[in-house]
Amino acid sequence: MDSLRFYVQTFGCQMNDHDSGVLARLLEEAGHLEVARPDEADLIVVNTCAIREKAEQKLFSQLGRYRLLKDRRPDLTIAVGGCVAQDAGRRLFRRAPYVDLVFGTHALQDVPDLVARVRRTGRRIAATPEEQDPERLEAFYAHHRARAVTAYVTVMQGCDNYCAYCIVPYVRGRELSRPADEVVAEVERLVAQGVAEVSLLGQNVNSYGLKPRGETDFPALVRRLARIPGLLRIRFTTSHPKDLSDDLIRCFGEVPALMPHIHLPLQSGSDRVLEAMRRRYTVGRYLSLVERLRQARPEIAITSDMIVGFPGETEEDFRATLEVMERVRFDGLFSFKFSPRPGTLAARLPEPVPEPVKEERLARLQALQQAHTLERNQALVGVVRPVLVEGPSKAGGGQVSGRTPENKIVNFPGDPAWVGREVDVRITAAAVNSLRGEVPAAPSVGPDHRPGGVACTFR
Ligand code: SAH
Ligand code: SF4
Ligand code: F3S
Repeated sequence: MDSLRFYVQTFGCQMNDHDSGVLARLLEEAGHLEVARPDEADLIVVNTCAIREKAEQKLFSQLGRYRLLKDRRPDLTIAVGGCVAQDAGRRLFRRAPYVDLVFGTHALQDVPDLVARVRRTGRRIAATPEEQDPERLEAFYAHHRARAVTAYVTVMQGCDNYCAYCIVPYVRGRELSRPADEVVAEVERLVAQGVAEVSLLGQNVNSYGLKPRGETDFPALVRRLARIPGLLRIRFTTSHPKDLSDDLIRCFGEVPALMPHIHLPLQSGSDRVLEAMRRRYTVGRYLSLVERLRQARPEIAITSDMIVGFPGETEEDFRATLEVMERVRFDGLFSFKFSPRPGTLAARLPEPVPEPVKEERLARLQALQQAHTLERNQALVGVVRPVLVEGPSKAGGGQVSGRTPENKIVNFPGDPAWVGREVDVRITAAAVNSLRGEVPAAPSVGPDHRPGGVACTFR
């Protein structure tokens, strides 16, 4: 097939982001060339998210714009993949007839072949297999190449939890853990390419290794990865409070490479709402986890997700959420208005919360969180933290940017040669989204673990 110029656009979570990155490498290896703008491309790939209705609306208005490009250039191929594609299959052609290829969440590995077939035959294809073939999944991730100092590594796919509001189990399929040896080998390869920090991805990493049952559970995987020379930092996301194990909590105290940050989605501070959400934990259990995490690693940063306006949520339920926030004082919080998703349990529940009430609750919750984030960030002012330098700062002016162990972004005057190394930085100022810092005249810079001659680019 001819070499195509392709452009990839991604909606949704880190998993999608990561899959898009690997897919781009796969397309490059098939002889195609990535370009930075859709109007320069022969092939546009959109990786979609179905988590809330708004995400889907954004997708269709974006597709409308790509259609205009195609009106001008009929040889443009438009491919839509990911969670909306998995859910809609061929139905997507009805709503967007100018789309040429629909590929599901289990068909990533096939995209180069599918694109070739569409272009050869001029016929539309929808490929949305229900199940993941583990071997093909490994073949896909074998194309992962380091692009920066930090990298995502998917350790498991799918989700079996069926929280009442959530579409993920329907679009990502059953839980499937990758073999530990494959994960370790992938991380070793990335480290050899210059990666210093990996974030392990899964919808519920606590059940890693259980399906299919392997010898290595998640804490054991973390401990194995921590022994890889040159790997400075390990993070993971996401952990479900119902099965965050004692052993994983111990890891925070015992494994220095495991960074002191956990994303632990609470969703609501009302036991009644948690039950209706089918989250299978109580606020009491959540608070005891927070306490034990802070005992294991006092400086640990805790971030969370919250949904407001779940069906039946009263003002009293909502206040309970604010109260839990006051008690925990999260370092950061992603908050969302409940969005009914087709096929989920919650979409059929009575007592919808009116839109203006959802909006008002979201605004109150976000105002409180801003205050807490700022308070947690300001507590770091005056403290020296090791910052892994990721690249030049967006702010420019000779500044570099990196993250503290707690996952907070720090901008500070520094040397671009520090990229990929840890530097001790004194935090001098804190805002909601980032910190500022400075290094002394004789800075303390950690060793460069990157292999000689490999330049790390970052986007
Ligand atoms: N696996 C992760 C969550 C993945 S989805 C976990 O279990 O925590 C990311 C977040 O989107 C969820 O934590 C939830 O807060 C939000 N979300 C999911 N479905 C939603 C819906 N229907 N409406 C609003 N927010 C939703
Ligand atoms: Fe969705 Fe719940 Fe699975 Fe998270 S654990 S992906 S919220 S079903
Ligand atoms: Fe969205 Fe799919 Fe991720 S629905 S949040 S892209 S798993």
